[in-house]
Amino acid sequence: MTNKFELYKCNICGNVIEVLISGDGHPVCCGEEMEKLEVKNDTLNSPDLTEKHSPKITRDDENNIVVTVEKHPMEEKHYIQFVQIISDDNDEVITKFFHPKEEVRMNTNIENNDIKARSYCNIHGVYMN
Ligand SMILES: [Fe+2]
Repeated sequence: MTNKFELYKCNICGNVIEVLISGDGHPVCCGEEMEKLEVKNDTLNSPDLTEKHSPKITRDDENNIVVTVEKHPMEEKHYIQFVQIISDDNDEVITKFFHPKEEVRMNTNIENNDIKARSYCNIHGVYMN
């Protein structure tokens, strides 16, 4: 059984998939069940971690939502690959992909005020604000 917006990774080929419509089965890739990526929150572990993954949600002067990940490497081998803003009712999702050396920052004028944000690090996995 899957749930909407869950992420699964193939530990053989590296495919990462997102569930859009849930079903009874478990995703399979390369002949094996894919690993469900559990959502983590690094602010709970240590407030002074030098490397942080959890996205921060703020608003700019025009009241747009701004999501950033400020304290994380953006190197070829270790970087934030994407950030998503998801409404609490799970009816809206916005995804932005990032590349090494880029600043992790996304803006949206999404009207829904009840949102969460998550980031995906290619090494450490999924983090929610
Ligand atoms: Fe990381």
